[in-house]
Parts: sequence; structure tokens; C-alpha cells
Amino acid sequence: MSIVYLNGAFLPEREAMVPVLDRGFIFGDGVYEVIPVFHGRLFRLAEHLRRFARSVAGVGIGMPLSDDGWRAMLEELLARNGAGSASVYLQVTRGVAPRDLIPPQPPAPTVFAMVMPARSGVPAPIDAVVLDDIRWQRCDLKVISLLPNVLLKQEALARGAADAILVRNGIVTEGVSSNVFAVVGDRLKTPAQTAYLLPGVTRDLVIELLAPELTVVHDEPLTVAELHGASEIFLSSSVRELAPVTRLDGVAVGAGVPGPVWRLAWQRYCAFRDG
Ligand code: PDD
Repeated sequence: MSIVYLNGAFLPEREAMVPVLDRGFIFGDGVYEVIPVFHGRLFRLAEHLRRFARSVAGVGIGMPLSDDGWRAMLEELLARNGAGSASVYLQVTRGVAPRDLIPPQPPAPTVFAMVMPARSGVPAPIDAVVLDDIRWQRCDLKVISLLPNVLLKQEALARGAADAILVRNGIVTEGVSSNVFAVVGDRLKTPAQTAYLLPGVTRDLVIELLAPELTVVHDEPLTVAELHGASEIFLSSSVRELAPVTRLDGVAVGAGVPGPVWRLAWQRYCAFRDG
């Protein structure tokens, strides 16, 4: 049975309980992070903790643990679960308080972490559809209120696709739970970082790993027209790693198979991950 962490204690998942007045439950008032674990090691932990701290501060919750505290807790959680490859889910909510938008006194944050199974193997090619980005204007924060993402994923599945790529006023933002890369002419592009997309740890890693061979254009908008004309598209995330999109809106992307730029990125990523 899996062991989870809740407010200072390690306990079996079935015994981990949160009061109904937790603001995570009532308002979706909290933030989260997902950190992959490869070969028993937390991957890009410092980068994930930095983004987590940014999300926590961004919604005005007090950071309950130090970086060393998070690291020690996560390592103990992994040891208790005997995980080799997995991902760790971390969540902080504003805590338990009477149901007021602004609680009379700031409650103690609720802190939760669990280990989730990893996907393994080479990511399968997927079909995606372009959908209007119906989310809010602070998608740079990793907040737990994911109802728009649920609706978007539901819509993608209803249209027979596996995922959606989101567009705001003709400009691509990101996937439902990933960042987007596209080969446009002879350039590999990923949308410029704005408040409309999450600063992806995998996105940054891909940019860094490809740098010796290929400059990733990451400071320009990516238009929906460019996306539709792209010869390759792939999605990046801690959980999905690098997933090639071989059909977009029912039409083959390029040759309709994972392309050479994806393959190069995947090789560099695997070498770094397993090195
Ligand atoms: N999601 N954009 C969104 C909206 C995401 O939810 C994610 C990751 C990413 C990619 O970020 P990273 O490379 O740091 O994982 C981009 C996680 C995995 C999730 O919600 O499960």
C-alpha cells in the first residue's frame, strides 16, 4: 500500500484525511508540483522547488518547509514507497478555515505529498486538436484548480484526439498539461514565456540540451497558423517527457511520424536523464 505524507506524518494513503473545510476542497485554493523520479533520484529537484516556491508565493501562502526540508521529506517518502521510477506529487493548500474568501486569520497550510507510478518507454505518437484556451490569465502558476484543463481534455477526447494544444487570440500557449514545441520552416520554436503558460522545467531542459546543435526560438509567439504548417510538433512535461504529435486536427503533421528534431531532442533528453 502506498505511504503518503500529510502535515508532518507519513501514513497509509487510506488513512490520510483532510477536513472538509480545507480551502483546497472548498475553493481549489492551493498550488502543486509534479517532480519526476528516475533511477530513484528526484530529477531537476532544484528547478521544481524553485517553481513551487514561485507558485506558493504567487498565491500568497506562507512556504511551510525549506528546500532542505522538502528534499528530506521527499527522499523519505520515496524510501518508504521503494520507488525506482515514479513521480512525486506535492500540494500545499491555504489550510482549513471557515468558508470566507479571505479567512479571518491565515490558517496553517495543508501539506500533502504522494508517489505516483511513472510512465515508461518511448512516448507514443499522439493525435491532438487545437482548442481555444479557456483558462484564466495566471497559467504561469501551478494551481490545483484544474477544472478548465479537465474540460479541455474531455473535449479533446470527445473529438477522438488524445490531447489538445491551446490557443489564445491566434497565439499558441501550451498543451493541457504540457508545453509545446514546433518545427516551423527550419526553426524549432516554443512559445515565449508569458503569464498564459507554465514555465515548464522540461521545456527549459530541452532548450538547454539542444543548445549546442540547435537554437530553440523561445522568445517569440508561436501562431496557430505556424502550428498548422509545422513539420514536427512535440509536447514536453515531467510526466509525458517528450511526446510527438503526429496528427493535428485530423491532418498528418509533416510525414505523419515522429521526426528528426523530436528524435534528437529525445536522444539528448534520455542521455541526460540516464547519465
Ligand atoms: N504538468 N503546462 C502545464 C499546464 C502543465 O500542467 C505542465 C506539467 C507543463 C509542463 O511542465 P513540466 O515540464 O515542468 O512538467 C506545462 C504536470 C506534469 C501535471 O500537472 O501533472
